[in-house]
Amino acid sequence: MRVLIWLGALLPLLYAALRFSVEFHPQWLYDGLVYLEGYVHLVLTRTPTDPLKFLSDLVGNSALWLLALTLLVTPLRSYIGINLLKYRRLLGLFAFFYALIHALMFIGIDQQFDLFGVQHEVMTKPFIAFGMGAFLILFLMALTSSKKLFAKFRSWHKLVYIAVVLIAIHYLMSHKTITLTNVTVVGTLFLLLALRLVKR
Ligand code: HEM
Repeated sequence: MRVLIWLGALLPLLYAALRFSVEFHPQWLYDGLVYLEGYVHLVLTRTPTDPLKFLSDLVGNSALWLLALTLLVTPLRSYIGINLLKYRRLLGLFAFFYALIHALMFIGIDQQFDLFGVQHEVMTKPFIAFGMGAFLILFLMALTSSKKLFAKFRSWHKLVYIAVVLIAIHYLMSHKTITLTNVTVVGTLFLLLALRLVKR
């Protein structure tokens, strides 16, 4: 199971590597990917036109969905008796890993590590402030996720509820328009929170 999680969680990086190396693909791989494109709802055979936005969106979405999977662990156990608790930390750390790349791309590439610039963006753009708030919570949770620290700081992990609300707002605001896809993504996050809150 652990191997499956590693392989699944690293798929976004494989996807990025595939997109950035399209020009070097041997013909058999290119043909295979064209064939696969017919079945999956993904572009596989074109280099991204805006590489930075492509990467930032990819890691942002990966963080969001890995966090959603982390939130699914508790309801899976309480509603259908599937116990994946021992894999929750790994899933959460992968969610944080992608959130870290997403945040570092903003701080390092957008803002050139100018912390006053970052502060200015946080103060003037609410969607950046919501993202930053969520990131700081995930950072705190990752720091206190070892067995020993989790026992001590267990109650801090309830902050995940706030992080998810902040991420949902950050996500909606970054898209500017409300589409069925956006509503479905946010609905999924809130449903997962609700399932955890309603004790059985
Ligand atoms: C330091 C904190 C953060 C900053 C500065 C930040 C910044 C950004 C920026 C600049 C965008 C792109 C907006 C655009 O394309 O115009 C974005 C989109 C997004 N962010 Fe963040 N973000 C942060 C934290 C997070 C966190 C913690 C998550 C999830 C766990 C997240 C998930 C997303 C998602 C899913 C998108 C939308 C990507 C898409 O267009 O499909 N962000 N963020």
